[in-house]
Amino acid sequence: MASSTIRSICCIGAGYVGGPTMAVIADRCPQIQVSVVDLNAERIAAWNDPDLSQLPVYEPGLDAVVGRCRGRNLHFSTAVEAAIAAADMVFLSVNTPTKTKGLGAGQASDLKWVEASARTVAQAARGHTIVVEKSTLPVRTAAAVKAILDAGPAGKSFAVLSNPEFLAEGTAIGDLEGPDRVLIGGEDPEAIEALAGIYGQWVAPQKILRTNLWSSELSKLTANAFLAQRISSINSIAAICEATGADVREVAKAIGADSRIGAKFLQAGPGFGGSCFQKDILNLVYLCRHYGLEEVAAYWEQVVLLNTWQQHRIAKLVVNKLFGTVTGKRIGVLGFAFKADTNDTRESPAIRICRDLLEEGAVLAIIDPKVSERQMARDLGQPAGAATGDHTAEGSWHPVSDVQQAASGADALLLLTEWQQFATIDWPAVATGMRQPAWLFDARAKADASAARAAGLNVWTVGEG
Ligand code: NAD
Ligand code: UGA
Repeated sequence: MASSTIRSICCIGAGYVGGPTMAVIADRCPQIQVSVVDLNAERIAAWNDPDLSQLPVYEPGLDAVVGRCRGRNLHFSTAVEAAIAAADMVFLSVNTPTKTKGLGAGQASDLKWVEASARTVAQAARGHTIVVEKSTLPVRTAAAVKAILDAGPAGKSFAVLSNPEFLAEGTAIGDLEGPDRVLIGGEDPEAIEALAGIYGQWVAPQKILRTNLWSSELSKLTANAFLAQRISSINSIAAICEATGADVREVAKAIGADSRIGAKFLQAGPGFGGSCFQKDILNLVYLCRHYGLEEVAAYWEQVVLLNTWQQHRIAKLVVNKLFGTVTGKRIGVLGFAFKADTNDTRESPAIRICRDLLEEGAVLAIIDPKVSERQMARDLGQPAGAATGDHTAEGSWHPVSDVQQAASGADALLLLTEWQQFATIDWPAVATGMRQPAWLFDARAKADASAARAAGLNVWTVGEG
């Protein structure tokens, strides 16, 4: 099937990947009808909201792309079977979180949503259909997907491709429009070329890589493992810097200037968050153990252990600096999303750090420009103190809408997400409202530390000795 014969695409899963990826395909391929389907009716309704600021995923530039295509050749719906039946190509872009129970719990990926969607495709597809794994999956999942598809009703045929997604949240549109590479793994040359032809509408041919299925599936886990490993590496060095008087940003600059190392992904912080790094490394660890590679498993597992340690380390440090107790003390938390420019809080370092501080009895005033109170409550496992009318109860939290409010009466501000607005805080005004001696704990090295010091605050910056 040549690319020109692909007239209709269906994507199962209207999440952080399915929504933006399909929006960009629809934008770049106006001749193709693209349907994004999901069982979650609330999410689909949000994708169809006439007010583009209400889309369920916040990504800079996404509203403009959706605005151009929606209703033209981009459709969001809950009619999963009908969209599959009409499609020449079906993307599986469903969630693949870590299993919480049963065999492999805590490490292996839970493939129940992938299996369910493959079964739906097996039933609903018509004629020949190319099925594309867009979700991040353990190596050899394509074999299981193919077996499920082939066990469906007779009279249909399928080709399975692996096409992992490398976009990062917050920069998804730029990553999709100008990817470093597109990776397509498969066995069926016609299917591979059909998918390559779609990306070829806007991606240079030399950036479209073709591999076998297993290399493609494994490359996705490996890319995330390498990226996460760099963060744990630099965070480990940040701790040595703090102990010795070195400065991790100077070290990062010095080592990053070596072209073999490179300057990217050397920003020390509160540890990596996001839905994928931890899940994908744990999945890799599980696979290694499955294949009897204990030393390899232990090697990668350490990346996750170091990350968890970094988050607890920061919470402990805050307690220690505040004379060993935060019970009843107000702490303003600046940022809750796992990184700037997203509303996503999955595995956000803020969750573990805030939970530790709540456990110690702190009163947290949390500000994040994109994360809702409802989401914070879900992540922290307790409603806002504001909901009960009590802003001062030990071990409680409440949302605030500006830094000044977060700082009012606080012993400390703790910067956890690198939102640009935190780089330009009016420190003299903010410091006036704080209880002295007051602290700024900057886990992202984002704030203007000298201005904060000049305003009379004690300042701790991650990785600064
Ligand atoms: P998500 O949870 O935001 O979205 C997944 C969607 O799939 C949900 O809305 C869910 O309702 C829907 N779904 C599940 N089963 C379904 C079914 N049977 N029929 C219809 N809809 C169904 O997840 P996401 O962040 O978009 O991630 C999807 C995949 O992409 C994961 O495997 C993830 O590892 C991978 N990935 C994510 C990112 C990222 O930045 N979030 C980047 C690259 C790869
Ligand atoms: C990451 C990868 O960058 C994407 O290529 C991949 O597609 C995606 O995971 C995925 O598979 O889900 P994402 O998690 O959206 O993307 O965001 P990143 O920019 O990678 O940041 C991840 C975490 O690492 C964030 O908490 C971020 O603050 C942190 N980080 C990143 C650092 O602490 N230091 C850095 O130098 C870079």
